Amino acid sequence: MKNPYLFIAIFIMLSGCQFSNKKSDDSHNASTNTPGNTNPPLNSETINWKPVAGNATVEFDPSFSFLQFIPTLDLAELDNASKGRELFIGEWTAAPGSRPLLDGLGPLTIATACSSCHFVSGRTPSLEANGEVGLGLLFRLGDELGNHDPYYGGQLQTAATTGSSEGHVSWQFDANKKPVFTLTTNQMELAKGISLGPRLSPQLVGIGLLDLVSEQDILAREDEFDSNNDGISGRAHWRSVNGEKVLGRFGWKAMQPSLEHQSAGAFQQDMGLTTSINPNEPCTPLQTICAEQPNGGSPEVSDASLFAINDFLTLLAVPARRINDQNEFDQGSRIFADIGCAQCHQPTLTTSDSKQYPLLAKQLIYPYTDLLLHDMGEDLSDNVKEGDANPREWRTPPLWSLGLIEKVEGSRFLHDGRAATIEEAILWHGGEGSAANNNFVKLAPAEKEKLLSFLRSI
Ligand code: HEC
Ligand code: HEC
Repeated sequence: MKNPYLFIAIFIMLSGCQFSNKKSDDSHNASTNTPGNTNPPLNSETINWKPVAGNATVEFDPSFSFLQFIPTLDLAELDNASKGRELFIGEWTAAPGSRPLLDGLGPLTIATACSSCHFVSGRTPSLEANGEVGLGLLFRLGDELGNHDPYYGGQLQTAATTGSSEGHVSWQFDANKKPVFTLTTNQMELAKGISLGPRLSPQLVGIGLLDLVSEQDILAREDEFDSNNDGISGRAHWRSVNGEKVLGRFGWKAMQPSLEHQSAGAFQQDMGLTTSINPNEPCTPLQTICAEQPNGGSPEVSDASLFAINDFLTLLAVPARRINDQNEFDQGSRIFADIGCAQCHQPTLTTSDSKQYPLLAKQLIYPYTDLLLHDMGEDLSDNVKEGDANPREWRTPPLWSLGLIEKVEGSRFLHDGRAATIEEAILWHGGEGSAANNNFVKLAPAEKEKLLSFLRSI
């Protein structure tokens, strides 16, 4: 039986929204197509708009924002996803806990629930006004060659269920309004050359769709050595999993090749929970705290739980566009392409076939990313190499639903949260993004407003 009105109503995130809720996604014909434009991706799909996420699109509802399931799921499909939702929002505790399904947290951890950092699947406060760092930011530990700290490992755990955590981070802006982080460690100093790599917790929108985009679709946009001389040289982040070469796609540096690996990585590094993918606690051999605490099973999170979380994230819908003025929106889209934003923030991708999620197969989606790494210049470098991605390289983040986040108190942008607004985020673009940034700065105020209004609506 189809169940079009089943959605989850746990949090109320937005109480008011500046946009009216017009159903304008499907069949509008814009008149802005200029033949002979040399900037690439003004394709027919950005002239004849289709729904933002194909079958996974849901009418935007300010009360539910990101927490709506795809409207056409049947009850069987919703069953596992609902279990996943419980695990995503559930508070995990140290073992032995009263709820074995949710025990095994720590001993080293950062948060007690996925949703503590992915607030309503949106952004959690990060750079707090008092100089404290909120749960919306965590810290990788590494150097420019990719080495981890020998004592603390590759990520800082700022909480512990027993004994002391690894340390505490505070922040302040430098003269250029770049956040500078100060770590106070609880055991020993970081090794020489190891830096903090801040990572903002992103909104989880259309994650399952991005998981389904085929490798060919991503690789077709690669241009590692900039052979077309446009100043943009996106490259794939190849990772190795059990000796196999796989394409990284999730995280600010595209470190994780699949949703399953991303969730397993989060369980391990962010919560101290083991899975069949990552059977060890986030302790180095020098740290004895992990051996001293009872574990919550081997692994602590079953494959069934991991699959349920993946189902939950995969079957969440993407909110439809929120457009006040279709003409202005079309002009904004045009400017986005003309000044070079779309060269990295590619408007469309297509999902591949999927036996597991047939509803999501072969969908045209509008995430505004190429899922490739780009050199974004020295200002955005954090001196930490992760995998094969050097300190200046970042994966183009998807931009869909960005406008919904901007409205939420405490939301910030870019990998370390340095930008308070979408406009500030653009102004930090360096390296391969410099030309687009310069073009943005040169826009007349009215054009800039059209572009920003477009970005807030996608
Ligand atoms: C301590 C905060 C924190 C917790 C807890 C946490 N996450 Fe995350 N999550 C992050 C950060 C930060 C990133 C970006 C990581 C990176 O850049 O490598 C991220 C990235 C992700 C992504 C990839 C998003 C993208 O656009 O590429 C997914 C999916 C995700 N988390 C799911 C989960 C799940 C599932 C859980 C619970 C098992 C969880 N997270 C727990 C902070 C957190
Ligand atoms: C060379 C590729 C490239 C170009 C061109 C580019 N971007 Fe980006 N964009 C990125 C990358 C990579 C990041 C993440 C950088 C970071 O966090 O350090 C980013 C981040 C952003 C963010 C913040 C996203 C978030 O989740 O916090 C916004 C907004 C954005 N870009 C908009 C634009 C606009 C508008 C343009 C055109 C003026 C543009 N970008 C041009 C690659 C690009």
